Amino acid sequence: MVDFMLNGEVVTAASEGDTPLLWVLREELKLRGTKFGCGIAQCGACTVHIDGNPMRSCITPVSAVSGKSVTTIEGLATPVGEALKTAWTEVQVPQCGYCQSGQIMQAAGLLESNPNPSDQEIVNAMNGNLCRCMAYPRIKKAIKTAAGGGTMS
Ligand code: FES
Ligand code: FES
Repeated sequence: MVDFMLNGEVVTAASEGDTPLLWVLREELKLRGTKFGCGIAQCGACTVHIDGNPMRSCITPVSAVSGKSVTTIEGLATPVGEALKTAWTEVQVPQCGYCQSGQIMQAAGLLESNPNPSDQEIVNAMNGNLCRCMAYPRIKKAIKTAAGGGTMS
């Protein structure tokens, strides 16, 4: 049994402690917004926040979040999160949509720590989040829009 905060509420996971957090979220707790892409920390589709920091849930054993706070795309309700969701809609970022929750969670982590990132800082922060639809220009534009900084140069 592992107790942790999930989107502001205490939950108890019955899965074995070495079960990846991603599977606990999707299969045990039925939050399917967080996606499985590679399973080896190479794509970013499974990104959630653990104590406010973007982390890859596919390689995080659920035991590692005991007593911690986990936020998924379903619970991203901060001002930064809302600004990103609004910008994402304005810019019409998604194509197939599969990578998008991970992209938004990664972007939220960036803007929480750096509210006005430079173009290069956006590129660096988002580098590990892959998009097979090649929506990268729109992702970066939406982050810039959410930060209030206009469009990417
Ligand atoms: S599924 Fe976790 S990084 Fe790809
Ligand atoms: S929108 Fe399809 S993988 Fe990114």
